[in-house]
Amino acid sequence: MAGKSMQAVQYSGYGGGAAGLKHAEVPIPSPKKDEILLKLEATSINQIDWKVQKGMLRPFLPPKFPFIPCVDVAGEVTEVGPGVSSFTAGDKVVAMLNLPNSGGLAEYTVAPAAFTVSRPSEVSPAEGAGLPTAAVIALQALKAAGTKFDSTDEPSNILITAASGGVGHYAVQLAKLANLHVTATCGARNLELVKSLGADEVLDYKTPDGASLKSPSDRKYDSVIHCTTGIAWSTFEPNLTANGKVIDVTPSIKAVATSVFKKVTFSKKTLVPLLLSPKGEDLKFMVDLAKEGKIKTVVDSRHPLSRAEEAWAKSIDGHATGKIVVEM
Ligand SMILES: NC(=O)c1ccc[n+]([C@@H]2O[C@H](COP(=O)([O-])OP(=O)(O)OC[C@H]3O[C@@H](n4cnc5c(N)ncnc54)[C@H](OP(=O)(O)O)[C@@H]3O)[C@@H](O)[C@H]2O)c1
Repeated sequence: MAGKSMQAVQYSGYGGGAAGLKHAEVPIPSPKKDEILLKLEATSINQIDWKVQKGMLRPFLPPKFPFIPCVDVAGEVTEVGPGVSSFTAGDKVVAMLNLPNSGGLAEYTVAPAAFTVSRPSEVSPAEGAGLPTAAVIALQALKAAGTKFDSTDEPSNILITAASGGVGHYAVQLAKLANLHVTATCGARNLELVKSLGADEVLDYKTPDGASLKSPSDRKYDSVIHCTTGIAWSTFEPNLTANGKVIDVTPSIKAVATSVFKKVTFSKKTLVPLLLSPKGEDLKFMVDLAKEGKIKTVVDSRHPLSRAEEAWAKSIDGHATGKIVVEM
């Protein structure tokens, strides 16, 4: 593909939101060692994509402008770089791109072979593109809460906040697969959806009971997967069992400080800030569950690449139900 060009959506500076995205014709990248070139079918948007544009990780990310964002993709292998023997041209795959390179909002991209897995025909490109970041952090959060996904898992009570979002809707399904008792929070319009994903009880976060996170059946939570922001430790604390653990996938500086304080004071109730650790085996675990029909991706909306800015604006708006997908 060397010398050929493709359509891509990129931004050239910090800020600007959806209006900062520009369509451009750029060279198709070439796969280097241990990389594969993908003709993309779908990409899903995560909050981190537009937070990088906002400058949340400046001056480290993006490493340079212009920058093609997005990391969660599904596509077809068109070329493999040196050292890649696990894929050949024509394979359909799901991949997680390196955040510093990103590149998913385009017709082609290069993906690290280590974070690429085959996409079975039972999983559509849109469903597959939903999985890499949101489903893998949901899986890693459940594991951090002590879930092993084998016969040794004991019944326990778990709270999942923002259960209607990209991460939360996978977390609910994973928790039910592990036979946990799930209490979930979401907005009124998604109560039925979240129940249909398996939640045992659902709280509308805009009601007083929802805001206090109190279980309708008066349970204390052994663990919490916290998928939104703006909830203080003092709200979680009274709802936890004696050894209750909050896994915070949206850690603020305050949450990190609370976590350290809980450690140094030998508190039995703990807070664990969690960042995604890209792992091909975790992505494969999730794709396999999707293939078996045990996990589904709720697709909030689909947008063509030519209107990617609409998808971007929708993600920034913060009210996605499931995953926002751009299709090529
Ligand atoms: N640690 C990591 O490595 C990692 C990885 C991925 C994501 N994250 C973070 O995880 C968070 C969730 O990501 P996401 O992709 O799931 O977000 P998302 O899809 O954009 O979440 C939107 C959903 O959250 C719901 N929501 C918002 N505030 C809520 C509240 N206070 N209580 C209950 N529900 C609420 C919204 O419901 P309504 O529309 O009804 O308001 C909407 O359905 C983000 O902060 C993201 O940055 C972290």
